[in-house]
Amino acid sequence: MAARVLDGKARSAQVRGEIAKTVAALRDKHGIEVCLAVLIVGEDPASQVYVRNKVAACEQAGIRSLHERFAADTTQQALLARIAELNADASVHGILVQLPLPAHIDRQTVLEAIAVAKDVDGFHAENAGRLSHNDPAAMVACTPRGVMDLLAQAGVTLQGAEAVVIGRSDIVGKPMAMLLTNAGATVTVCHSKTRDLAAHLRRADIVVAAVGKPRMVTGEMLKPGAVVIDVGINRQPDGKLCGDVDYASAAEVASAITPVPGGVGPMTIAMLLANTVDAACRQHGVTL
Ligand code: GUN
Repeated sequence: MAARVLDGKARSAQVRGEIAKTVAALRDKHGIEVCLAVLIVGEDPASQVYVRNKVAACEQAGIRSLHERFAADTTQQALLARIAELNADASVHGILVQLPLPAHIDRQTVLEAIAVAKDVDGFHAENAGRLSHNDPAAMVACTPRGVMDLLAQAGVTLQGAEAVVIGRSDIVGKPMAMLLTNAGATVTVCHSKTRDLAAHLRRADIVVAAVGKPRMVTGEMLKPGAVVIDVGINRQPDGKLCGDVDYASAAEVASAITPVPGGVGPMTIAMLLANTVDAACRQHGVTL
């Protein structure tokens, strides 16, 4: 039986429509103009595309955005000084520093300079800690939050489920594992040093692949009926995108699967907007 396709593009459009209404209500009823600052250092072409997409999504939702570009040789001190200004500016509700940063800038120092309440990426150690404590005040990293939304929309039972997360990054793998654990799943985190990935996957009711290796998860590795979430975005030699999952073979075994493109990717931006609105509401003491 062919797997159900989890359409992240459609769900993202729906979420973004709801966010636009909330943003309008915050403006009209509470006089709050939701604002996100997006900072980028250097000329990395992929990062520039991501940032432009984030800024355009803000505009579409009625969120004011500050798109701040810094030269590749900007000092860490200068970047930290700007972050301090944005932290102190009550009209700015969210601050995002696009990654990767140039080698002379220490990523952790920069991420932890962002005010916890404005950390819409959820990358600050304090937000990561709150997430690990299942604290609802945690700002949750956008991609894992988007995956949880897709799973909820698909009606996937998480409590008691066996989940395998492939990838242990601070941005996706670790927060993903935390969210699934908090939701009652039994979670295994696999990564590049895992000895027998297939043995773990055979048991998995839910698979989240976030390793950046094109088509490494194939249908024969999966448990029949598994729900497969593909976070990978890999550019192939012909210029087309593919995920970390071999879609054709996996779709024959899985009960549900996300495509690439059009699966998790669009959810990340939707959740960035959601985090920004959440941040604005909390900063102004507004409950929706
Ligand atoms: N670079 C790649 N993904 C992300 C992300 O989600 N947030 C930021 N800030 N940088 C990224």
